Amino acid sequence: MPEPLNIVVGVTGGIAAYKAVAVIRSLVLAGHDVHVVATDAALRFVGKPTLEAISRNTVNTDLYEGVAEVRHVAIGQAADLILIVPATANTIAKLANGIADDLLGNTVLASKAPVVIAPAMHTEMWQNAATAHNISVLEGRGVTVIGPASGQLTGADSGQGRMSEPEEIVAAALAVLRPKDLTGRRILITAGGTREALDPVRFIGNRSSGKQGVALACAAAERGAIVTLIGANLEVSVSATIRVEHVVSTLELADAVFAAAEEADVVIMAAAVSDYRPESVAESKIKKETQGERLTIELVKNPDILAGLADRRRDGQILVGFAAETERDADALLALGRAKIVRKGSDFLVLNRVGWSEGFATDGNSVIVLDGAGDIVMEASGSKTSVADRILDVLV
Ligand code: C5P
Repeated sequence: MPEPLNIVVGVTGGIAAYKAVAVIRSLVLAGHDVHVVATDAALRFVGKPTLEAISRNTVNTDLYEGVAEVRHVAIGQAADLILIVPATANTIAKLANGIADDLLGNTVLASKAPVVIAPAMHTEMWQNAATAHNISVLEGRGVTVIGPASGQLTGADSGQGRMSEPEEIVAAALAVLRPKDLTGRRILITAGGTREALDPVRFIGNRSSGKQGVALACAAAERGAIVTLIGANLEVSVSATIRVEHVVSTLELADAVFAAAEEADVVIMAAAVSDYRPESVAESKIKKETQGERLTIELVKNPDILAGLADRRRDGQILVGFAAETERDADALLALGRAKIVRKGSDFLVLNRVGWSEGFATDGNSVIVLDGAGDIVMEASGSKTSVADRILDVLV
């Protein structure tokens, strides 16, 4: 579990304020201490009881409340991060000019924490020269601007100005605080599960969604790495900032990995790779009418990509394997992991348990990381994003 952060969420008066509730909820569930500073206008759109219940803290609005404890500066001084969601055109204009006529304005001025804003307004207001200027002033001052997206606005119209989605805002805001300790490192990550064709419409595959590998790719990129992601049948979307090469089968994955590994400082093989493939692929759909009661498919072994990487590794290149096992006994699971890391020749092995409802395609994960000697160097449980960061900490 990462350190809980003190996050001030400024909520200002726009229709998108209802989505601020989802942002606050997500930050609280991730373990952070969230303090909401709402403008008067914000409270015309979303109720204080909702914001207090969801943030689990008192919601501050009034500049003249809590004067004895100098609240107008104390909130900003204590903050690790200030996130303003939504940020209206009016608030953006006030921030750009350092205006402090309400508690939120004071809080921002009194803080040294990074400021992140998620603008939301109609297209005309977003494109207005005044807003464009104010945004460039804020960016020049180091404020991170998330979105706005283009899409449906409050009414029937659509265009640029729609607030980014809550999960995107949360991820981008937390990314601001990530250490940039992988700057310039070239990291190759595989994710997803390979599929081996039986015929033009069928395949042998596995239930890996690619979530853990994609979380690793995003976290590494946010920590400054130059990331290449090779995705095998990903079921999750990937941020546009990450270069993805899509593959389907193990042989395609092997070609892509061996080519990209030549440039990589680190290779993380998070993909679930099929150990076997059908010896031959039927040219047309296999028909039960011609097969009868039984159908036998001959499988041949796929190359072991990770072991192949170990054989041709560059000097100083770090190789990380994954081992997804259904073994329930903790000692036996560790023994499997230890045998595997020796067999594969990787520097680290991320060991996790998978099953009908564990590991694959879920949002959480629980892993043990072994080093080349088979010793446990790290154990982590939590969201796939937090597990990704812990794995990267080991590599750093
Ligand atoms: O042998 P096993 O499939 O359990 O090993 C898992 C690790 O090896 C993962 O990192 C996976 O990406 C990699 N692997 C591979 N080539 C294979 C099978 C697995 O690189 N043919």
